[in-house]
Amino acid sequence: MNTIENIKTRRSIRKYQQKEIPREIMMDILDCGRLTPSAKNAQLWRFVVITDRAIKEKLTQICKHGKFINEAYAIIAIFYDKDVNYKVEDASAATQNMMLAAWEYGIGSCWIGSYQRDHSKQVEELLKCPDNYELITMFTLGYPAETREARNKKQLDEIISFNYFI
Ligand SMILES: Cc1cc2nc3c(=O)[nH]c(=O)nc-3n(C[C@H](O)[C@H](O)[C@H](O)COP(=O)(O)O)c2cc1C
Repeated sequence: MNTIENIKTRRSIRKYQQKEIPREIMMDILDCGRLTPSAKNAQLWRFVVITDRAIKEKLTQICKHGKFINEAYAIIAIFYDKDVNYKVEDASAATQNMMLAAWEYGIGSCWIGSYQRDHSKQVEELLKCPDNYELITMFTLGYPAETREARNKKQLDEIISFNYFI
């Protein structure tokens, strides 16, 4: 799969096979997060990989919009240094890089919006996040047990213009 095909075929996956992701694949997905661009090359992110069943169960209870979390093989929670201006952009770019890397391996993912959401503080406490870091994003990883087509995507001519907005 080339990059364009990868981007165009990835869909959010919320149903997963109960199948382990091999460690070397997991590490390669994380490595694609490591190599993400970051403002001033700060890289002040931490990727926490959650595979523990009890922790996944707690996350499922805490996250209102993540009721499928406990079915996933792993959750990656991305934390960033609180004092960095571009923390949201950096962490989001790393999230997308890792989701696309996962898709290259046939592994599905779904972003769980986690920046300053109702569940953010509880997740930070559960995962023992230090005071100088904060939760920015989370996403699931698991071999898909569903196929999904692109739905309700806007057409290109609805969202682009050249030179000026209007
Ligand atoms: C910032 C962000 C937050 C999201 N949060 C959730 C979420 O909490 N739960 C969920 O099921 N999907 C979540 N999604 C996934 C979107 O619903 C999904 O990307 C969108 O419906 C488009 O579908 P697609 O990813 O298959 O193209 C989130 C996506 C983004 C980018």
